[in-house]
Amino acid sequence: MKILAFAGSSSSTSRNKELVSLKRFTKHDINLLDLKDFDMLVFSVDREKNGFPQEAQNFMKAMEDCDFIICSMAEQNRSYNVPFKNI
Ligand SMILES: Cc1cc2nc3c(=O)[nH]c(=O)nc-3n(C[C@H](O)[C@H](O)[C@H](O)COP(=O)(O)O)c2cc1C
Repeated sequence: MKILAFAGSSSSTSRNKELVSLKRFTKHDINLLDLKDFDMLVFSVDREKNGFPQEAQNFMKAMEDCDFIICSMAEQNRSYNVPFKNI
């Protein structure tokens, strides 16, 4: 099974990233993503006219190429963190 794992956090010391990196999943093929590699400007209808950012396309491809997704979200200001919402 191909597993995509990521944390909804951009912190270098993310607890959520540590959680989704748990060794008990390592018998499977894990693609562990870091949201820092998908850093995007805040999107808008005007920017959409120029197409979707490469980072968003890369993230979509990673989701299409997996069988299963594991994500763990940091709560910030009673919501998901901004890098996750952007992507
Ligand atoms: C800017 C900011 C806002 C936060 N807002 C909340 C919140 O609304 N509710 C909450 O329970 N924790 C909040 N926290 C605490 C984080 O959820 C907590 O530190 C979490 O461990 C962060 O996850 P990470 O270690 O994966 O980055 C906030 C932390 C930061 C830095």
